[in-house]
Amino acid sequence: MLRNISPVPGRFSLSVGLLASLLAFSTDFLHSQAPALHVMPLPRSVEAGSGKLTLDDHFYASIAGKGDERLNAALNRFLERLDRQCGGIRRAQFTNGSGSAPVFSVKVAGPGGAVQGLNEDESYKLTVTSTGGELSAATDVGAMHGFETFLQLVETSGTGCWLPAVTIDDAPRFQWRGYMLDVSRHFEPIPVIERTLDAMVIAKLNVFHWHLSDDQGFRAESKLYPKFTQVASDGMYYTQDEMRHIVAYARERGIRVVPEFDIPGHTSSWLLAYPEIGAGEDIKAMPQTFGIPQAELDPSNEKVFKFLDGFIGEMGAIFPDAYFHIGGDETKGKGWLENPRIKAFMDKQGFKTPEELQAYFNRRLLPILSKHGKKMMGWDEILQPSLPKDIMIQSWRGEKSLSDGATQGYTGILSAPYYLDAQKTNEVMFLADPIPADTALTPEQQKLILGGEVCMWSEHIHEETIDSRVWPRTLAIAERFWSPQSDRDVADMYRRLRIASYELEDVGLTHISGPAKLRRNIAGRENKELELYSAVLEPTSLGERYKQQHTDRLTSLNRLVDAVVADPASREEIATEVDSAVSASGASSKLAIEKLKMRFTSWQAAAPEIASLAATRVRLNDQATRAAQFGALGTAGLEALEYLEIHAAPPAGWKDAKMALLEDAKKPAGMVKFDFLPALQKLVEAAAAQAQ
Ligand code: ACM
Repeated sequence: MLRNISPVPGRFSLSVGLLASLLAFSTDFLHSQAPALHVMPLPRSVEAGSGKLTLDDHFYASIAGKGDERLNAALNRFLERLDRQCGGIRRAQFTNGSGSAPVFSVKVAGPGGAVQGLNEDESYKLTVTSTGGELSAATDVGAMHGFETFLQLVETSGTGCWLPAVTIDDAPRFQWRGYMLDVSRHFEPIPVIERTLDAMVIAKLNVFHWHLSDDQGFRAESKLYPKFTQVASDGMYYTQDEMRHIVAYARERGIRVVPEFDIPGHTSSWLLAYPEIGAGEDIKAMPQTFGIPQAELDPSNEKVFKFLDGFIGEMGAIFPDAYFHIGGDETKGKGWLENPRIKAFMDKQGFKTPEELQAYFNRRLLPILSKHGKKMMGWDEILQPSLPKDIMIQSWRGEKSLSDGATQGYTGILSAPYYLDAQKTNEVMFLADPIPADTALTPEQQKLILGGEVCMWSEHIHEETIDSRVWPRTLAIAERFWSPQSDRDVADMYRRLRIASYELEDVGLTHISGPAKLRRNIAGRENKELELYSAVLEPTSLGERYKQQHTDRLTSLNRLVDAVVADPASREEIATEVDSAVSASGASSKLAIEKLKMRFTSWQAAAPEIASLAATRVRLNDQATRAAQFGALGTAGLEALEYLEIHAAPPAGWKDAKMALLEDAKKPAGMVKFDFLPALQKLVEAAAAQAQ
């Protein structure tokens, strides 16, 4: 690792986008300057200056250049947030008025596209010296990114706030940095969407992909086709004014909104409202079960295209984005094959498979989309050689479909590794790259990969739990989309993620408070043993939960699985402590051993209370097995530490018994899993490996 690249003592500089420089940046800052920077996503270039800018009562921020009104609003939000951190900012801004020279001056060349597009210039340059800050950008959007970086540079001391002198030259690696939210399986009210967009601003994400219809609900008001929401929404839908509001709210923050209406499959809600456009399935009620009920639009029926022309025209006017997502995933086509009229149509056209009929359907959609000024976007099933190259493929079934598309000349984005309901670690998602360093794609093909999207499907979330399923994890993926490919320092990512998590909370996200509230509700009171236990638990994946609970839309999402989070801080902390206990020597090993002893002792002590809660609180009655394991694993840890401390091998059979316990604890139970099992296994193995 390059630690000493500093050209001048006390200063160092970074060249743009080089791995070595970035690592040197983070580690140099970490070790030679206190405190380390916590900007997330990591900028492409950072050059440290000397000195610092103190934010005192002379502070005054102003905008010059040709931004539009939204930049003033963004500046006001920025000042409010700065004021929350530092105090006195709003007073200083008011007192100094426009008369004094700005301490922080913002300059933009122009507002950016009237409708934000793929090629919006989002770059910015931020210079902080001991006398002031300057932010310059080509567009409002770039300047807004600069505001976020400025806020993350702020440090506090006992007397006030300051920023280190620094020059940041930043621009995103990928143009398409999205977040997809399914609001069909469970609806999310407007305030949830607003705070999601607020969080996306911090993450520097720029596309909100709104999955508005699916089998289990149609959530967008259509005036042309009012039955959609009258019969297929349970009254939970967005009015057209609300959708326009979200489009405007997003635009104010430099975020595009791409609507998705999933066709020709995933359409039970469509056919409940308008059976005449279907392939013949008789949908009698909105499905409460998950999975994919058989329901397809009828591509052989000309009236379907007329219907879609009206609908796309209506929605296209509400959502000005150039792209219109038509879904296209998981259309099995069983209904097509079972319908003699459609089968005859297929035969006449020479289509042998449902895939060929779906490709025909998509080809028919193209002129309709283009008539309404839209480009087609869809899940990777829409990739068919008969479609033109400028459609956008969203790859969800694996990275391969993305590179297959690019090889054939199609633009695409990656989502497969970024499914939040798989409950993977932040590390795994952060390291998954839309264009990995060892890609086999040519430079020209790589240009077709425009970025990626985080995906949140809503089988197992509702408005109280969504935030803790999405944040802060999405920040790790957002950094992958924004920062240079060379940014792969996992430990530093986690360090910055934990800090940014509080920033998210400060703008209104409930990812920390929500689960804590739910746990109090489950236990009937504040319960410190339950807190201790929950801190080392993670939810199982969507598939595993489904297997254990057979969830449907009527399942109450209010058990412990809903009140714990993926990849909690304890996983990394325990792993680090075990590494030190096992590999370090002297004081650091001793300290780690002491910390682990305290942990394991507290688990042993808490286990009987968890068992008692499991016996007396109905929503914890799935925790009896895990509660017993919790105590036993604590004991195993303590025993391992003891053998390590006395440098003595455990008796014969000890290791086998502990490994069996660990294996048991890996099995599904209570829809939650322990986050420390690999670390504890390492400890057990280290204890057992000692010489007799
Ligand atoms: C999908 O997950 N079916 C796009």
